[in-house]
Amino acid sequence: MTSPNPICVALDTPDLGRARLFVNSLRGHVGYVKLGMEFFYAHGAEGYRAIANEGVPVFLDLKLHDIPNTVAQGLRSLMALSPAPAIINVHATGGLDMMKAARDAVPAATRLIAVTVLTSLSNENIHAAGFDAARDTAAHALALAKLTHSAGLDGVVCSPHDLAGIRASLPRSFLTVVPGIRPADSAAHDQKRIATPKTAVEAGADVLVIGRAITG
Ligand code: C5P
Repeated sequence: MTSPNPICVALDTPDLGRARLFVNSLRGHVGYVKLGMEFFYAHGAEGYRAIANEGVPVFLDLKLHDIPNTVAQGLRSLMALSPAPAIINVHATGGLDMMKAARDAVPAATRLIAVTVLTSLSNENIHAAGFDAARDTAAHALALAKLTHSAGLDGVVCSPHDLAGIRASLPRSFLTVVPGIRPADSAAHDQKRIATPKTAVEAGADVLVIGRAITG
């Protein structure tokens, strides 16, 4: 399911009370809330249900990355959650077979997307990690987005700077979920590849993941 409101607020807290407070004050103003690993590892299925039952679609951002069988089984366990997450994700660097196995495990009602290159990583960071030094982050993100599309997933998580290449190469229906969003004069924090909401939407972002700029 895709919300008509593109704003997805990253709750990024292990505190159930704080997450509940946020979801209550955000209801009606945002399209999604995003629950990440710090929340899910602390509160599990019960905590997830407490937030998901508040009526705002949930992006469950657990970024699964393992061998195909393990990722598929992990996703099947997550698909038992009710209400089902609106969006769930894996890492595209897990490879084609892993993403195909993930696709088989997730019914179409949940959008299954893949993380390309984390927005906290610079060219220097990915080259130090062993990625092809002849390619920059945008080129790696595009290659991973093409792999994700060929595996049959619904879209990708990518930086605002990666959107131009992805929009030029893949169908418009391919979902782009974009973190690293900052109002014009706010702090970048640990993000390296950022853009304003306006620039990201103009570049073709479908969902804007905004954390500290709202929750902080
Ligand atoms: O506070 P901020 O707006 O930087 O939060 C961004 C959110 O998006 C965090 O929850 C972070 O984990 C997530 N994210 C990201 N880059 C990715 C994938 C997810 O920043 N490539």
